[in-house]
Amino acid sequence: MSAKLIVALDTDELQVVEKLIDQLSSIVKIFKVGSQLFTACGPEVLQVVQQKGAEAFLDLKFHDIPNTVSHAMEAACRYKPLMITVHTLGGSQMLRSAVQARNHVGSSAKILGVTILTSLDKGALEEIGLSASVNEEVLCLAQMAQAAGLDGVVASPQETVILRQSLGEDFIIVTPGIRPSGPMNDDQRRTMQAKEAVMAGASYIVVGRPITQSPDPLAQAKKILEEIG
Ligand code: C5P
Repeated sequence: MSAKLIVALDTDELQVVEKLIDQLSSIVKIFKVGSQLFTACGPEVLQVVQQKGAEAFLDLKFHDIPNTVSHAMEAACRYKPLMITVHTLGGSQMLRSAVQARNHVGSSAKILGVTILTSLDKGALEEIGLSASVNEEVLCLAQMAQAAGLDGVVASPQETVILRQSLGEDFIIVTPGIRPSGPMNDDQRRTMQAKEAVMAGASYIVVGRPITQSPDPLAQAKKILEEIG
């Protein structure tokens, strides 16, 4: 087991971000900037992460026509994030455009395709007209992402075993939806514990609220790191 821990900085406040990074950066080296933080604080927040010696994972899940995603990707690469997300439901042409744009500007950012959000279950997929099982949908989208040249995917830990079997050892699999044992009342549905996710083949696990809303974020992060070895 050698997966890395990424902490999701889902907040509106720069002060909270700075405090969390200061608390955690001795043991956490990658922080995820998603749409909430990016929209509230602007792209400068990526520099805040980097100036504190950590890497930034820019999780804006681009999903638009290929031309727009291509330009958004070029703009995102300027901030030198370690990883950037696009949404695989944008289709293979959009995914290829994202890869071409990244290559065109000579960036080393890894492009990851979000498959089916970890907050969606079978009932939610049916509601939006997707009738295959969650596993089938995720595998189909992940295979398309790999064929389009992406470096990896974001998927629930529940699909990690089949993804790892199908996509090979080198493809990056990032798994959010990590929860400690016991009930946690929030919006995540396809969850697993950190150790199980890593044993299933995750390259990185993303943990947000279980760490950031803990009274002791450092102790919680240490506990998760110990669990995943
Ligand atoms: O707080 P929590 O641990 O649920 O945070 C999970 C993070 O991972 C959030 O920032 C969310 O946007 C992100 N994410 C997810 N499911 C995906 C892709 C990203 O939960 N499929």
